[in-house]
Amino acid sequence: MSKKKNIMLVFGTRPEAIKMAPLVHKLKAEPEIFNVQVCVTAQHRQMLDQVLRIFDIVPDIDLDVMKPGQDLFDVTANVLQAMKGVFDKNKPDAVLVHGDTTTTLATAMAGFYAGVPVGHVEAGLRTHNLYAPFPEEFNRQVASRVTRWHFAPTELSRANLIAERVDDEDITVTGNTVIDALYWVLNRIDADGDRSAKLTQSLNQTLPFNWQSGRFVLITGHRRENFGDGFLQICEALRELAFKFDDLHFVYPVHLNPNVQKPVRTILEDFSNVHLVEPLDYEPFVYLLKHSYVVLTDSGGIQEEAPSLGKPVLVMRDVTERPEAVDAGTVELVGANKERIIAGVSRLLEDEAHYLKMSYAHNPYGDGRACDRILAVLRNI
Ligand code: UD1
Ligand code: UDP
Repeated sequence: MSKKKNIMLVFGTRPEAIKMAPLVHKLKAEPEIFNVQVCVTAQHRQMLDQVLRIFDIVPDIDLDVMKPGQDLFDVTANVLQAMKGVFDKNKPDAVLVHGDTTTTLATAMAGFYAGVPVGHVEAGLRTHNLYAPFPEEFNRQVASRVTRWHFAPTELSRANLIAERVDDEDITVTGNTVIDALYWVLNRIDADGDRSAKLTQSLNQTLPFNWQSGRFVLITGHRRENFGDGFLQICEALRELAFKFDDLHFVYPVHLNPNVQKPVRTILEDFSNVHLVEPLDYEPFVYLLKHSYVVLTDSGGIQEEAPSLGKPVLVMRDVTERPEAVDAGTVELVGANKERIIAGVSRLLEDEAHYLKMSYAHNPYGDGRACDRILAVLRNI
């Protein structure tokens, strides 16, 4: 019998954890083929732990690097240094990283230095602008340079890699594992009446309005390039929208980054129809997304999830590395620009034909079987 394959997955933030969680479970379901180790950098602490809890994952290694108010130098240096120690003790046959965070960059570099081959999940997303999103476009381009197995979510991401002279044989188009995670959570809720009743009860405690039948806008935002003026524009747009549509509710789970907390809480605290809440666990968040009317976000993952649920998305960025749903007409870029945000939300609320055009369900980012396609490659490494 051939030797078992030692696979280490390394991730550190909320979105990486959500997107790697189904892969952890699929790999662990084949113990005769794979030895699996989960290493978390804990670039995020509370928001990572929320995801680990929902998906029942207990890390084998926890580097616990998060510091309040950390900067890019701190995270890059601390993860790189800590991964040296991890690779000194463990030499996996492959290290799997995800997407474009600083954890991804530093772990891919550490793998390259230590001679551990890198598998990159969600490879090939590009804006071709190193400053948007910053530093993620840089992180993912560098990760691609040292990657052995590129798991590209779409044909477009494969084409981006080929344009950078990555060998087509090293690329597998898999779909995005976020759709695997989304279906996993939705199926678990649908299969268990008690679970949906508990979710409803806990959301009723968090939100003081009838979110199950009333219309509401769901908002998230955290991009570094929007810090400062961008966040002021976003908050002022929300303030005006809350006045203009005073019977509508705005639900905003506020990211824990202090650069986000400060402007959002200062400008939006006092509106009875604006609900600023703590970051939600993935399960209630998805449930709320399913019940929302419009989504306003600068998040990457939410741009991928919302089309599957038929929710129109206004993206508060100037460019996106996920143009598939923009081309399909269900996502629109409005920038971190007050006037465009107000105009975009108002049109969706006032023009029914426009709303219907933007709100059909489709799956440009995956069919829920991305992990199976990744495993098919890893069985043969
Ligand atoms: C990071 C990623 C970004 C990803 C985002 C997902 C980088 C450079 N940025 O951005 O690509 O889209 O996560 O959310 O890798 N904090 C907490 N608790 C938490 C999480 C964050 O208190 O659980 C606070 C801390 O003060 C921390 C700060 O937020 O220092 C910033 O966290 P960091 O991971 O550096 O940046 P994000 O903006 O979260
Ligand atoms: N999400 C969550 N709770 C929240 C907000 C978002 O679980 O309160 C999920 C969301 O469904 C998506 C992911 O977090 O899967 C997106 O994370 P984030 O926006 O922080 O990062 P990005 O995707 O932009 O890298």
